[in-house]
Amino acid sequence: MAENQTSEQSSATDEPTIIILYGGTGDLAKRLVLPAFWELYTRGLLPKRWKLVGNGRGDVSHLDFQAHIHDALAEFAVTPEPAQWQGFAPNVLFAGGGFNHDDPGSLLGVIKEAEQELGEDLTIIHYLAIPPSAFEKTTRAIKAHDLAPGSKAVYEKPFGTSLDSFHELDDLVHDVFEEGQVYRIDHFLGKEATQNLHLVRFSNRLFNDTWSGEHLAQVQIDVPETLDIADRAGFYDETGAALDMLVTHLFQVAAQVAMEPPLSLSAADLQDARESVIAAFRPLDPSEVVLGQYRSYRETEGVPDDSQTDTFVAARMWVDTDRWQGVPFLLRTGKKMATSAQRVSLIFKPSDGPVHSSGGNTNALIFDLKGNGAIEIQMTVKKPGPEPLPAESCSTLHLENVSAGSMTAYTSLIYDVLAGDRSLFTSSAGLEAAFKAFAPVLAADTRPAIQIYDDGGWGPAAADALTGDVGWLLSG
Ligand code: BG6
Repeated sequence: MAENQTSEQSSATDEPTIIILYGGTGDLAKRLVLPAFWELYTRGLLPKRWKLVGNGRGDVSHLDFQAHIHDALAEFAVTPEPAQWQGFAPNVLFAGGGFNHDDPGSLLGVIKEAEQELGEDLTIIHYLAIPPSAFEKTTRAIKAHDLAPGSKAVYEKPFGTSLDSFHELDDLVHDVFEEGQVYRIDHFLGKEATQNLHLVRFSNRLFNDTWSGEHLAQVQIDVPETLDIADRAGFYDETGAALDMLVTHLFQVAAQVAMEPPLSLSAADLQDARESVIAAFRPLDPSEVVLGQYRSYRETEGVPDDSQTDTFVAARMWVDTDRWQGVPFLLRTGKKMATSAQRVSLIFKPSDGPVHSSGGNTNALIFDLKGNGAIEIQMTVKKPGPEPLPAESCSTLHLENVSAGSMTAYTSLIYDVLAGDRSLFTSSAGLEAAFKAFAPVLAADTRPAIQIYDDGGWGPAAADALTGDVGWLLSG
């Protein structure tokens, strides 16, 4: 949700709307997109008249798709209240038989069916919750069947899988849509706590004045996950951790931290500041990147026995602006690790002046990106007692007093799509810069070799060395 909105929201738009969910029965839809639609519905934030049309290859009836959504909500969100479900379900339809430029399956017929109820003067939202390899085919089909004019198109990440494929996709998308119709999702930008990074920084002198290499030794953006790739082998094995998480979510969060002060805190200026600092990300040096794969990965159904796909990536990245000279950004994420967390840690240099010799603590300001977010301060204090001894302390600000009305990242971003607010979406220029910085990790002759790590561990040992003396703040 963009910052100029309040928690007392009304429906995002009055326009009757059809949302076509490509990949409607897929994993992403089930876990994240459908629960977000339900949340918008139960909060009264969908337009008064709407239809959600799932699309996929299978021949699924409207009723079966409704039942599928009900099950998905029960598993990944909440079991719908029967009375609310009665209002929601009739708006849900399914168009099977796929959707290609030479064969639209049943989608055009189902859109007509929806139009009969909603009227013809409506907005279509194309939501591509499909693997990146299918973006091109679906985009061409949208053009071939004349569904692009006046519509909006939401692309999941990664938008491109290399600098070249980004350019090809970007050209194609711009051939079919105007830039203003395109919403490239990176749901980490929709997280309340990610937005808090700039709000806390710019609104509080305590933080703003120390936000640079003068005071900071390093920045760690650490997103370990305990989950494996569940039933996503098809998507995951062609994507891998670096594309799934690093060039996307972690780069965007790094840009949130690294941005120069925007002209104002308006959505457009913030987007500009965030996206333009990515051009200052120095291309990753492969000797500062560690790729890993968890030991049991190749036993997953659908994963080839000799898969070289990375399920872990750690990188030391440099941001070439005056503010960040000499400050490494340490980025780490992986599947099937020891813990799940999403943390941005600003690690301070040791204090000048008379420091207690046995202090030895890492002074850090830590943003927890999960849920509504929390802020932790790790510091050295006096140990209570007669001796003047230092002690390490970590206090957490849970921010409960401002958490009412918060929404999940997907709910917030889909609301913005309906409302036509593109400020928390990635831009073409920002993504091009991200792929340039990331290119050495992809190039066949420079890509680091995969190192196997134990399931439930912290990734390859080589990743620890990237942090120098500091170490990862999260560790075993
Ligand atoms: C997704 C990735 O974009 O983000 C997943 O594809 C990852 O691999 C997920 O697990 C993490 O998101 P969340 O919702 O836990 O913040």
